[in-house]
Amino acid sequence: MAYKIAIIVGSLREGSLNRRVARSICAIRGDNLDCSMIEIGDLPLYNQDLDANPPEQWRRFRRQIAEADGVLFCSPEYNRGIPGVLKNAIDVGSRPYGQSVFDKKPGAIVTASPGSIGGFGANHQIRQAAVFLNMPIMQQPEAYLGHVSDDSFGEDGCIKEGPLRDLITGLAHAFHDWVHMIHESRRLLAEDSAHAAQAAKAKEHA
Ligand SMILES: Cc1cc2nc3c(=O)[nH]c(=O)nc-3n(C[C@H](O)[C@H](O)[C@H](O)COP(=O)(O)O)c2cc1C
Repeated sequence: MAYKIAIIVGSLREGSLNRRVARSICAIRGDNLDCSMIEIGDLPLYNQDLDANPPEQWRRFRRQIAEADGVLFCSPEYNRGIPGVLKNAIDVGSRPYGQSVFDKKPGAIVTASPGSIGGFGANHQIRQAAVFLNMPIMQQPEAYLGHVSDDSFGEDGCIKEGPLRDLITGLAHAFHDWVHMIHESRRLLAEDSAHAAQAAKAKEHA
């Protein structure tokens, strides 16, 4: 079964390494992950005053996340933290209070950098926000992709064969399984409660 995955890339630049990593993950699991890149560069800065009459870009973004079965964050690290544009998107999706579109969405976090620690700081800041957002985030494999550069990608735009490709392939498979497990468990739990309610009703009328 193909799951609809909303991909949020924390970089706006055209040649973004993180965007290409995200595309590679989609290409590897194209059979089971139906991925869409969600635009975040046009979102007006979050301002609680606008919640009563939200800008069209906020509505569009919230709708796209709400319609997804899962969310994949692929982001660079800026100054050891989350790029502002990504934090803004997270804030926009999380409000109004009690109506967060991220609530209960399974997710995964990938950070890529030419540096050696692979955006570890940003990765864990996204993870920290996801705890408050009540998103079940895939724990393993962790993906702090270091030493990523233009040379890491082939002519097709995907990651070349090698250890990085192997890691991304494992992650793409694990992410599909993670999203499947979360949705399947919820379906079974809902079925169980429906059966229990039916049984209780039958007992009442017996
Ligand atoms: C404002 C800024 C801050 C950065 N800070 C970090 C950092 O803290 N850690 C890191 O590994 N790389 C840092 N970098 C380098 C980025 O990892 C690099 O530019 C990367 O290619 C950006 O991701 P992208 O290719 O997806 O746009 C920074 C780059 C910019 C523009």
